[in-house]
Amino acid sequence: MLSDIFKEHIDIENNFIHLHSESEHANQKQTNESFSEKWVAYDKTEGKWTWYQFQKEWYLELYGFDNEKEFSEFLKTKKYIFDAGCGLGYKAHWFAELSPSSIVIGMDYSDSVYVASNNYKNVNNLYFIKGDIADAPFIDKSIDYVSCDQVIMHTENPEKTFKELTRITKKSGEFSCYVYSKKALPRELIDDYFRIETKKLSHEQLWEMSEQLTKLGKILSELNIEVDIPDIPMLGIKGGKQDLQRFVYWNFIKCFWNEEFGEETSIFTNFDWYSPSNAKRYNESEYKEMIKENNLEIIYFHKEEACYSGRFKR
Ligand SMILES: C[S@@+](CC[C@H](N)C(=O)[O-])C[C@H]1O[C@@H](n2cnc3c(N)ncnc32)[C@H](O)[C@@H]1O
Repeated sequence: MLSDIFKEHIDIENNFIHLHSESEHANQKQTNESFSEKWVAYDKTEGKWTWYQFQKEWYLELYGFDNEKEFSEFLKTKKYIFDAGCGLGYKAHWFAELSPSSIVIGMDYSDSVYVASNNYKNVNNLYFIKGDIADAPFIDKSIDYVSCDQVIMHTENPEKTFKELTRITKKSGEFSCYVYSKKALPRELIDDYFRIETKKLSHEQLWEMSEQLTKLGKILSELNIEVDIPDIPMLGIKGGKQDLQRFVYWNFIKCFWNEEFGEETSIFTNFDWYSPSNAKRYNESEYKEMIKENNLEIIYFHKEEACYSGRFKR
């Protein structure tokens, strides 16, 4: 029975599992509010469908599945699947569709779960919970597959959350997780500065700034200029021929622009980066240390400029 894997008594209302928790940490509270703001608005956009498709394909790459069929076969061997920090729940829904006999539970601290539970109310193997993944409501070793995609850095203490998600993973079960990578020094310093400043800004100001950054990204990108950059190791700036927009983006300021996703999704992407106060970044060795400390075996490890991700066995 579903209730068997929970630490406490739960009330299930249709596909919604009720818990009552609110973060006492100011940064986590601000982070939750900023994601509530983003998701409730993003659900109403048309651009979300292209973004979801891109996200699903990227997910396979991030966690080492050659294609959707292989991922589906993997999921079908799992009874309980947990999407930790599910946002609008489209990935949890994807898992539920790919493995109809599994039970998929999506949890998020923002209001996105209300939207998700309404959007997917007719999917009978999918549930949603509002709450803190750093205090997961499950008993030890109860979940066969824990997926924490693009989330852990937004939690109050990512190391503690990582430990908690390991705790609920079944013995020989798998836990997949993504962290942001540390970038060049000027970009890190600006990003850190923003984590302090965003707390003082209203959502209107943050949307305005996200629009301005999108415009900057678009202008730089449309210039179509390639620059030959020297290596500047002291600042973490990598040399070589680079597109001007990419150079500014990776080394100085996130000014996301993607023609295919369009203006709306690009604005949401910039908002997503600069609005939450919690957004920790890691280098490869720091991330691998966290995996090692939790006695997890690396099944698959992936790195790209923006992130590190992988699938780990308990
Ligand atoms: C960048 S979004 C990623 C959402 C989703 N995993 C996806 O890939 O689309 C990060 C999500 O983490 C959620 N989040 C941040 N801290 C959390 C916490 N402590 N507990 C649960 N969710 C959290 C946010 O509300 C947000 O929906």
